[in-house]
Amino acid sequence: MTRYRPGAHRPYDLILKKRNGSSLNADEIGYLVAGFVAGEIPDYQMSAFLMAVYFRGMDEAETAALTMAMAESGQVLDLSEIAPEAVDKHSTGGVGDKTSLVLVPLVAACGVRVAKMSGRGLGHTGGTIDKLESFPGFNTALTRRQFLDCVTRAGLAINGQTGELAPADAKLYALRDVTATVDCIPLIASSIMSKKIAGGARGIVLDVKVGSGAFMDTQERAEALARTMVGIGRSVGRRTVAVISDMDEPLGLAVGNAVEVREAIETLSGRGPADLRRLCLALGAEMLILAGRAADPVAAGKMLEGALASGEGLRRFRAMVEAQGGDVTYVDDPGRLPKAALEAPVEAPADGFVQSIEARQVGLAAMQLGAGRARKGDPVDLAVGVVLRKKVGDRVRAGEPLAVALADKAELLPAAVERVRAAYRLASVPPAPRPLIAGVIRD
Ligand code: URA
Repeated sequence: MTRYRPGAHRPYDLILKKRNGSSLNADEIGYLVAGFVAGEIPDYQMSAFLMAVYFRGMDEAETAALTMAMAESGQVLDLSEIAPEAVDKHSTGGVGDKTSLVLVPLVAACGVRVAKMSGRGLGHTGGTIDKLESFPGFNTALTRRQFLDCVTRAGLAINGQTGELAPADAKLYALRDVTATVDCIPLIASSIMSKKIAGGARGIVLDVKVGSGAFMDTQERAEALARTMVGIGRSVGRRTVAVISDMDEPLGLAVGNAVEVREAIETLSGRGPADLRRLCLALGAEMLILAGRAADPVAAGKMLEGALASGEGLRRFRAMVEAQGGDVTYVDDPGRLPKAALEAPVEAPADGFVQSIEARQVGLAAMQLGAGRARKGDPVDLAVGVVLRKKVGDRVRAGEPLAVALADKAELLPAAVERVRAAYRLASVPPAPRPLIAGVIRD
């Protein structure tokens, strides 16, 4: 853990240096981060620094130094004894993104131990930890010892990020959130990579989302973020691959918590939506290659398909639920997962083809119904959400359901139904196809 060294620098000088467009060295960046975490550098100076970074950017060395200063601001997990390959995956956040629930057991089924840290949903995007709490008893706040034990026993575990890991990130993120500095590539890249490194990852597979439901709404920005993170990995000795994937429509059909868990179980059972399955296979292949289990994507794909077909992926999922204290009867019978009391169809206003589905709006509709939270700490309703019936490219007839809104409170339904209807754009001709995977960036 990096200690604050009072008097080593003056915050004012470092803010000025960055504001004037010069680069800071690792010592200067480490001083700012450690001072901020120690409460010695006040919010107003750190805010000014963040805004200077927002306008001036950071070069590769600075971004790597910021990442390591954040990673080393707390505990850094050492997974070398239990999972020497220690490959982790991170998504930049999307709507209907339940890939971790499918991918982690599939990769574990191929013989790679996975110790995954995940987050809760915020705003229009969901979070794996909330989804897993659909299983009664599932413990997402394992101690370090329990977490490592689960990985050793079951071959995998998914845990909530504790305050001890990269505390600088949590503190900086809260400040960025209120100073209009979230949307800044070096700050996003260092935030994500610091948490992965603190979590013990030696190899990192990033799912960088692009489109209307993602932080990065253009291919250009998604590639810039992906390159920045791969560059950080190179600078700090972590093998990193970034897959750029489409988030212009929700992934799969289900958006919410329990509904997404059900869809993940379906997918692990060899069914499930094609886009979800394809993305899990693509990300899983990169994980197996980084872990040294497969030589190339074709070999890796075969291993993952085998784990799906044999049911071993689903068995691993069940083993994880059991190891983390969850009720496995809900895996065996997903019909037991929380169910909403009410549902309302979102009817197509006309005949046509679905041109686009604004993912952010669908995510916001699910949030309005109670599936997400507007503020950190708000409770979520595990049962509610939105299930799409039509995806981009599908043909619809007027009055046919485009989607179904699931609610526990009747008064929340009309606005959510209207929002989902407005998220769909229909046209008389089919849309041009968009690739699910828009690029892979390797070191
Ligand atoms: N996700 C993160 O973890 N950090 C950011 O800054 C943005 C998205």
